[in-house]
Amino acid sequence: MDREKLPNHIAIVMDGNGRWARSKSLPRLAGHNAGMIALKEIVKRTSSLGVKHLTVYAFSTENWKRPENEVGGIFNLLVHYVERELEELNQNNVKVKIIGDYNKLPKKAVQKIEEALIKTRDNTGLQFNIALNYGSRDEIVRATKLIADKVANNEMKAEDITQSIFKEHLFTSAIPDPDLVIRTSGEKRLSNFLLWQSAYSEFVFTDTLWPDFTPECLEDAIKEYQKRVRRFGGLK
Ligand code: IPE
Ligand code: IPE
Ligand code: MG
Repeated sequence: MDREKLPNHIAIVMDGNGRWARSKSLPRLAGHNAGMIALKEIVKRTSSLGVKHLTVYAFSTENWKRPENEVGGIFNLLVHYVERELEELNQNNVKVKIIGDYNKLPKKAVQKIEEALIKTRDNTGLQFNIALNYGSRDEIVRATKLIADKVANNEMKAEDITQSIFKEHLFTSAIPDPDLVIRTSGEKRLSNFLLWQSAYSEFVFTDTLWPDFTPECLEDAIKEYQKRVRRFGGLK
């Protein structure tokens, strides 16, 4: 891996927790718990490599369709994750951000998230963006409404809407587009993740289930990324 050519922003669809649990005859929540442990190591490695942005898909707007006990269990695990990891994240100068409408989460989870946001807000190392109750289509509709309101209130003219103005109204307004999007577990789709933002991202799909995804797997994905030729529609 070339340490001089790291992606500035890595985004990950952390998929396969349920199948990992099933393969071990464990309940699905044991898979989500193992997924959190894997995440901890990935954040550490990303941070120590000096990557500037990591975005992880933790809960989608469609994941509410799952049984109530799984949904509630995931949010409980999130609360425990913040309780266990916040101190170390802060020591490592990691800045936590949320993308998605996290106010719809249970109160306890919202409180923990806000604690993490406030505690790490002045940190200057890795920016760790957690996508929670995030869905790209929702995000795009939400941005459109915000812009439409501004036009209706004469704060802006329709003809002044540009790509960069649109971007400013997304949850990711202050985050550069991902250079590398990784999805684990063998699925090859975006599942409503960063649709606008990944227009020119490089994709790496791996069969590894998320709880088995180690920092070495991350470095393999980065190596794969480094072999790609990015043209952005132009010529090399
Ligand atoms: C990803 O693992 C985590 C979330 C969606 C919250 P899954 O729970 O989707 O695992 P599989 O796809 O069922 O194996
Ligand atoms: C995407 O995984 C969402 C997260 C990883 C949080 P899903 O498991 O929900 O996606 P589908 O249903 O297989 O497309
Ligand atoms: Mg899945």
